[in-house]
Amino acid sequence: MDEKRGSGLTRQLLAFSRRQPLRPEPVDISRQIGGMRELLDRSLRGDVHVWLDFDEDLWPIEVDPGELELVILNLAVNARDAMPAGGTIVIKASNSPAEANADRCDFVRLTVADTGSGMPPEVRERVFEPFYTTKDIGKGSGLGLAQVHGFANQSGGSIDIESELGKGTKIILTLPRSNRIPAADERHLIQFRPKALAASLGSVLLVEDDDEVASLVAEMLVELGYQVTRAASAMAALGALSNGRKVDVVFSDIMMPGSMNGVDLAREVLRRRPELPLLLTSGYAEAAKKDADALGIRVLPKPYQLQDLATALEGVLLHPRWLCPSSEAAPVFSVGPGA
Ligand SMILES: Nc1ncnc2c1ncn2[C@@H]1O[C@H](COP(=O)(O)OP(=O)(O)OP(=O)(O)O)[C@@H](O)[C@H]1O
Ligand SMILES: [Mg+2]
Repeated sequence: MDEKRGSGLTRQLLAFSRRQPLRPEPVDISRQIGGMRELLDRSLRGDVHVWLDFDEDLWPIEVDPGELELVILNLAVNARDAMPAGGTIVIKASNSPAEANADRCDFVRLTVADTGSGMPPEVRERVFEPFYTTKDIGKGSGLGLAQVHGFANQSGGSIDIESELGKGTKIILTLPRSNRIPAADERHLIQFRPKALAASLGSVLLVEDDDEVASLVAEMLVELGYQVTRAASAMAALGALSNGRKVDVVFSDIMMPGSMNGVDLAREVLRRRPELPLLLTSGYAEAAKKDADALGIRVLPKPYQLQDLATALEGVLLHPRWLCPSSEAAPVFSVGPGA
C-alpha cells in the first residue's frame, strides 16, 4: 500500500468525522484500540510492526471513541511514513494517578512511539498547525496532528511530543479518567462490525477504484445490512452485472481512472438494465449533477456519514429514477369549474 493512499484514507476519515461534535463517553482503551488491529494492519506496511502494551488494571477514559480511533490511525500513519525502511510502533497506556501529576486529577497516559526518522526542532514546533506538512503534494494534508491536538484539548487532556532527528518520535497524550463504567459493546467509528445475523437489505455492487476507500465503504454497507460485491473499475462492474450475479443496487464513485467514469457506467447500466437502482457519489457533486440529472440518477456528495448513505440507498431502492425539477411536469393548478 502506498503512502498516498494512506494519507488519502486519513483525509477521508477526517472529513467523515469532522461533521460531528465530540461525544465523550467512558471508553476502555484496550478494547477500543485492540479492536483496531485489522484496520491498522490494512493501513500500515508489512515491515511496520505494532505492539500494544496496556496496563492490566487500566482505568477507563472519558473521550469520544470514534475520535480516539482516528487519533491512533493518524499517529500510526505518521509513524509509518517516518519509517520508510520499516520499524516498530509501540502503543502504550498506563494509569497516571492524581498524586503523580501536577493537575491532581487521575489521568491515563497514552503514548505512541516509533523508531522512525524523528523531527528536527523547526518541524517539531509547527506540527500541530493545521495544514503544516513536510510531505509531497498529495501525500499529506497536514491535518493529522491538528486532529490529535484538538482531540486532546477538547477531551480535557493534553499532548506532548518527544522527538529527535534519527531517534524516533513519541507522542504522549494525557487523557482524563472516567468515573463511569464503559458500555460492554464498544462502538467503532472506523471498523464497522458486520451484523452477522441481520437480514440482508439487498446486494450492493460497489464500484470504487481505491482499495482502502472501498473496504471502508464496504464495511459501512455491511453495517447497514447490505451484502457487498466490489468492482474496482467500471469495466469490472459491467462484468459483474453480466455474469448473472445478484445485484439490487449499483453504488459507484464518479471519478475513476480508465476510459469510463461513474456517469459513463451509469449510462451503460441504464441501457442494459433500465430498472436497476443506481446511486453515484462524488467529492465534486455539483460538477457531476447536470450529467446525472439528465439520466435521472442521484448523486451522494462526499464526504458522507453512515446515515447519509443509508438514506440515499433507501431512496434509490424505493425510486430508482429521479425526476429532476427540469424534467418534471409543471404542477397543474385547477381553478374554476371543469379545470
Ligand atoms: N512520527 C513522526 N515522525 C517524524 N515526523 C513526523 C511524525 N509525525 C508527524 N511528523 C511530521 O509532522 C508533519 C505534520 O504531521 P501531520 O500528521 O499533521 O500531517 P501529515 O502527516 O503531513 O499529513 P496528514 O496527516 O494530513 O496526511 C508531517 O508532515 C511530518 O513532517
Ligand atoms: Mg499525518
